[in-house]
Amino acid sequence: MHQAFGGIDFGTSNSTVGVIRNGKARLVALEGEQPTLPSAVFFNFEDGYTYFGRRAIGDYTDSIEGRLMRSLKSVLGSSLAHEKTRIKARQIGFIDIIGLFIGHLRTRLEEDAGGPVENVVLGRPVQFVDDDEAADAQAQSELEKAARAQGFKHIAFQFEPIAAALDYEQKVTREELALIIDMGGGTSDFSIVRVSPERARAGDRKEDILASRGIHIGGTDFDRLLSIAHVMPELGYLSPTKDGKRNLPASYFIDLATWQRINLVYTARAMTHLRQIRYEAARADLVDRFIHVVEHRYGHALAALVEKAKIELTDRSSTEVAVKLPDAAFAAAITRDGLETTIARDIGRVAETVKQTIRDAQVKPSDITAVFLTGGSTAIPLAKREILSLVPQASVIEGDMFGSVGLGLALDAQRKFG
Ligand SMILES: Nc1ncnc2c1ncn2[C@@H]1O[C@H](COP(=O)(O)OP(=O)(O)OP(=O)(O)O)[C@@H](O)[C@H]1O
Ligand SMILES: [Mg+2]
Repeated sequence: MHQAFGGIDFGTSNSTVGVIRNGKARLVALEGEQPTLPSAVFFNFEDGYTYFGRRAIGDYTDSIEGRLMRSLKSVLGSSLAHEKTRIKARQIGFIDIIGLFIGHLRTRLEEDAGGPVENVVLGRPVQFVDDDEAADAQAQSELEKAARAQGFKHIAFQFEPIAAALDYEQKVTREELALIIDMGGGTSDFSIVRVSPERARAGDRKEDILASRGIHIGGTDFDRLLSIAHVMPELGYLSPTKDGKRNLPASYFIDLATWQRINLVYTARAMTHLRQIRYEAARADLVDRFIHVVEHRYGHALAALVEKAKIELTDRSSTEVAVKLPDAAFAAAITRDGLETTIARDIGRVAETVKQTIRDAQVKPSDITAVFLTGGSTAIPLAKREILSLVPQASVIEGDMFGSVGLGLALDAQRKFG
């Protein structure tokens, strides 16, 4: 008899599905043996099929004709959520595209379970949308609707950092007052939780959750900022018009630097406007590069190069973003210091949110005995430094960078549906 429930961590960048098998949480293989699936959807215009994950990104990068969608979670609760986007001759709502992705995860979950699965706990950031309760509630209900349309009947939600705490708790050997840090692609989420082997067995954990907070800052924001500061100037951003009276309008540069807005630059109207901008530009040669990037539909590939550079700067002090298109060849050098300067303000806001979480919990920083780190963006040296400096005495536990939340959601689903 299979347990017909699971946990889904629909992440901004990566997703996982957790289940309980033989009394233990584990992740379902989502793409080959891989337990993570990049949250990407590719509509292949050549064969008419829809692809997900690494395959989606790969097909797109191999110049197969089609449309790539990434960072879809960021659309929840925003004005884009109710918009449709053109996929060849069809108009599809962004929420329906999220539905296709959730449906794909459900298929994998059911293959793993060997039968239908109608019960699910979906992870959610503490705030989908910062300081706007109505938009936040809307985001959750959009996600719920998407999951329901894919056949889930009983849908519960859990905060992502609480799920991470449940995973962490499986390994603790004594009581800890833990600060859980989950910095992902879209949001940074924190919770302060009392964990212990005994407490893990209790059904209701409300009393043990002292505080939860989140902020809409994550790795895709760092990608955008890095692109705007270090790459977009190579394409004409911040360069003046011929008459020297003003700079070129910023909006197309910002769209091209923002994962979920890249497709907005690929319209006939945008191209007409870009040619006009080129005509007015003092540095038409730079805007030409922009136009070629758009003509080659190279926006996602460029954003991926920027993300790759950011990740390289976790281990190295310098790197470059090198674009080698036939009519647009250039390289932008970026240093670790440059990255840190670029993201310092955002990291400061993240650290401020951690401080506020500690105040909400009504504990002193020195009461915190353990810090549990999960989420890809906790690898960033500046983020780690700033956060750990707030609780210097606590022991640091590095969790499964990409799997903790999914595993914890499975544990939560067991409590709710098991
Ligand atoms: N070594 C690294 N150094 C810096 N950043 C990294 C590293 N590895 C991954 N990242 C970043 O981590 C982010 C993805 O992390 P993760 O998979 O935890 O996010 P997510 O769960 O999809 O997002 P969210 O939880 O915010 O919805 C990406 O922005 C990626 O660039
Ligand atoms: Mg996450």
